[in-house]
Amino acid sequence: MASNWTPEGWQSREARHLPTYIDASELGEVEGTLAKFPPLVFAGEARALKSDLAEVAEGRGFLLQGGDCAESFAEFHLDNIRDTFRVLLQMAVVLTFASKQPVVKVGRIAGQFAKPRSAPTETQGETELPSYLGDIINGIEFGEENRRNNPQRMIQAYGQSAATLNLIRAFAGGGYANLRQVHSWTLDHISRSPWADRFAETADRIGEALDFMAACGIDPEIVPQLQTTSFYTSHEALLLPYEQALTRRDSLTGDWYDCSAHMLWIGDRTRFEGSAHVEFLRGVGNPLGMKCGPSLEPDALLKMLDTLNPAREAGRITLISRFGHDKVEEGLPKLVRAVMREGHPVVWSCDPMHGNVIKSESGYKTRPFERILSEVRGFFDVHRAEGSHAGGIHIEMTGQDVTECTGGAVAITDEALADRYHTHCDPRLNAAQSIELAFLLADMLNLEAVDRGKRAA
Ligand code: PEP
Ligand code: CO
Repeated sequence: MASNWTPEGWQSREARHLPTYIDASELGEVEGTLAKFPPLVFAGEARALKSDLAEVAEGRGFLLQGGDCAESFAEFHLDNIRDTFRVLLQMAVVLTFASKQPVVKVGRIAGQFAKPRSAPTETQGETELPSYLGDIINGIEFGEENRRNNPQRMIQAYGQSAATLNLIRAFAGGGYANLRQVHSWTLDHISRSPWADRFAETADRIGEALDFMAACGIDPEIVPQLQTTSFYTSHEALLLPYEQALTRRDSLTGDWYDCSAHMLWIGDRTRFEGSAHVEFLRGVGNPLGMKCGPSLEPDALLKMLDTLNPAREAGRITLISRFGHDKVEEGLPKLVRAVMREGHPVVWSCDPMHGNVIKSESGYKTRPFERILSEVRGFFDVHRAEGSHAGGIHIEMTGQDVTECTGGAVAITDEALADRYHTHCDPRLNAAQSIELAFLLADMLNLEAVDRGKRAA
């Protein structure tokens, strides 16, 4: 357990990207209410995820982490949760089938509401108002009352997270994730993609493998792993009053856990040494992610690892690199070398989204699919060259048929972005683009496996 740590100790540190609330007593009341609410996840589950990630850190497995950039109150609907869940299941099946390695599934879901923004205010015409900071803080519509930081929104976000998690738990454990259902996970709207046929072929082959195993006496009725799956939740631990209120002491070990999600990550803009966010996260036992962008120097990274993981526990830290397609090959190797030299056990994951945002000619914030792929390729190339394990992917995606990122086999054009551009913050991959990415990742994982085989021989 971290020494000299309390759940409120972060309050005396420098905090960036935290909202100010005008009415301190209203904030206090909300924090008190949240502190009485039940935890959303249990410490034992966070430990189970940590041990799954420890396997990935050792090179045995792959982390698939994905979901909305920002969840919203308006888009809270069974269909959205189910469709995102099923696309993640499809991606996991593709990756598992190709790599023959376990895939650890973690959603950016059931709590991903708060956003760091590049500008504190937004101007429309003559009017300047505070920027939208995520539905847990203020509202997206441009209006004075709506953009006020409102602590009551934390209660609504908690409720939405609880209901979302409840549904996910039902899907993961109640038969929906049964491998016999693999064909039924395909959404109608992805049938236009050539990758839908590839997925159907994979599903057929899984079906054949299940038939064969059933003939040998192994079927989903007797092997629960075939009909259920593990699915974990995560979000950026940005809104510290909310995170603190959900931080609880585990009755089994006496350690503190942030029970708002299984895994929390620290964003690229709040990960400086001594920040309030680092101070908070160093004391909770959950597995942690840390975004690593072009401004991070190896020494600063090592200091941060010593602070967040002094015991060098495998599975505790996932480093999520997000350099941009044109910077990854230059920026990542020095971080990988430093971490390997110091013997820190980490999962290396690739966020090919946040370094690849451009403004399209039509004025939309978008991410070209080729750039996303190019960063993923660069990430795999760097790890192959350094002899480290390319251990995961972190993406903003949805099961909906949106038009937010250009390109992919479904060929979303700049002009088409206006058709279904629904995101509350950054552009997401749609279902077809996500499946396509999974197949391309599978090819890269296969290459890594071939290399591993050669080294072992
Ligand atoms: C995010 O993951 O939504 C995000 C804001 O990322 P980063 O901190 O890497 O910019
Ligand atoms: Co984002």
